[in-house]
Amino acid sequence: MNSFKTCSSGALEYGKNKYYNPIVMSRIVEIGPYHYIDPSQWGENYSERRHLDRMESEMFRVSEFDFSFEIHIKSPVRRFSNPPVLRIFDGGCGEGSALIDFRKIAERLSVKLETTGITRNPRHKDILASCGVDEIVIGSVENFFETDDRKNYYHFILDYQGALSYDEPRGIQGACVVPIYSRILESGGSALLVSPPVFPGWLKRNNLKIIQGTEEKGPVLVEKV
Ligand SMILES: C[S@@+](CC[C@H](N)C(=O)[O-])C[C@H]1O[C@@H](n2cnc3c(N)ncnc32)[C@H](O)[C@@H]1O
Repeated sequence: MNSFKTCSSGALEYGKNKYYNPIVMSRIVEIGPYHYIDPSQWGENYSERRHLDRMESEMFRVSEFDFSFEIHIKSPVRRFSNPPVLRIFDGGCGEGSALIDFRKIAERLSVKLETTGITRNPRHKDILASCGVDEIVIGSVENFFETDDRKNYYHFILDYQGALSYDEPRGIQGACVVPIYSRILESGGSALLVSPPVFPGWLKRNNLKIIQGTEEKGPVLVEKV
């Protein structure tokens, strides 16, 4: 039996395929399209549960990209002068291991955190709810933000081999996802993109200034200007 209740009223109301789990208070949106990869099919380099320290060490080992999430997260906290809520979006969050770690960082920095994790795999839904992700979207970034009209909302976006890696219509890596990330990022907010190289010039065209790394190689850290 499904343990999630449909909201009928109040702040958490979202529509007919949107739910919240009253125990962990996650908002859940199931919108599709769905994609299921069974863990037994995961290859050597495929993971749906990277923690932040694994991302840091992988980026350094593979690309000599020196990055500390904790140090970086301090900067939006300072830049937005202790925002009442620090908002983080994980575009392809898998089982949400990174989002768990962001919560620990926020606790250490004594800042309130709001997390959104999006994944196309329905298997992740209960796992994400049980680790306290505030908003869980089961479906694609492209599809979700067609109807969700948030703008200038998130302070930090992480896409670690997530939606961006699979977004290459007509050979343009990032064609759909990069404009969406630019729209939902707060001005001065940043995004860490770990994917195949984004289409040349595409970041700049979408008001994303490169702070660290290169478009040609990745990973790349960008800031919305
Ligand atoms: C290889 S896993 C990486 C998960 C996590 N970032 C990690 O490093 O462990 C890819 C994730 O991106 C999600 N994904 C792929 N395309 C997506 C899209 N268009 N929109 C949202 N999520 C997507 C998959 O469902 C999965 O959760």
